Amino acid sequence: MIGVFDSGHGGLTILSALSRRLPRQRFIYLGDHANAPYGQRSPEEILALTQVGVARLFGLGCTLVILACNTAAAVALRRLQQEWLPLAYPNHRCLGVLVPMIEEIAQNPWHAVASPADGLRRREVLGVFATPATVASGAYLHEVAKRAPHLAVFQQACDDLAGLIEAGAPEDRLMQSVAAHVAALDRQLGGVPVDTVVLGCTHYPLVEHLFRAVLPDRTRIVSQPQRTADALTAYLFRHPEMKSFGPVPAALRCFTTGDPARATQLASAFLAGHPAGNKVAFES
Ligand code: SIN
Repeated sequence: MIGVFDSGHGGLTILSALSRRLPRQRFIYLGDHANAPYGQRSPEEILALTQVGVARLFGLGCTLVILACNTAAAVALRRLQQEWLPLAYPNHRCLGVLVPMIEEIAQNPWHAVASPADGLRRREVLGVFATPATVASGAYLHEVAKRAPHLAVFQQACDDLAGLIEAGAPEDRLMQSVAAHVAALDRQLGGVPVDTVVLGCTHYPLVEHLFRAVLPDRTRIVSQPQRTADALTAYLFRHPEMKSFGPVPAALRCFTTGDPARATQLASAFLAGHPAGNKVAFES
């Protein structure tokens, strides 16, 4: 079984894309709603909470866990992979969501996808919107330097946005937050247009239309759920032993550390359009 771990609801955007791409694959979702959001927590807290969540998914029979939460992936993934898994779970794997995005951007430069005739007479500018903990971890800077050094990266910490989305804030309040963060990125850039944007938090795809409304038309937004689904499909092709296919559509089991009734009620927006979306009931 494949586990999908998130701090709360946001990872359902990833789960939805994964199970649509791999309809026979069985997934188990765990949202750590009791401790969400992670974005303002310390690295040690994020590491400890992520480790507990991943261990629970392993205990439920998962051999591979995707850290859908960018904050958990940015802060904890490398330490789990290097220090914990080899000792405690040598046959289990943990993957994140940052690398697939960066590889996609590296393979498809902005000038090739957006304006092949013009090209760019400067470095391609990548804007990353993410939680304060993800920005502070430097994980995007590190991975971009390794995999796409032609990019100039500018990060914008969105301190309030994941919490507002998780709490179901009204559209105008969300727009106010998105517009403020886009304006703050603009100030960092001092007039240079942003070419490519990463919505580096699982919650942000739900407000992609608001980012689209305030970003220039020329700016492309790279979709994290789709890229994660592509990367997992390729990974399972290379590691067929990690597949666990069942009848179509495979049932989704969703667990929460919080209130199952509230999690179930909020899940519908995140699983909109998913074949099993309206049947999901969270368990504790
Ligand atoms: C959070 O828990 O603060 C947001 C989740 C994420 O970073 O993807």
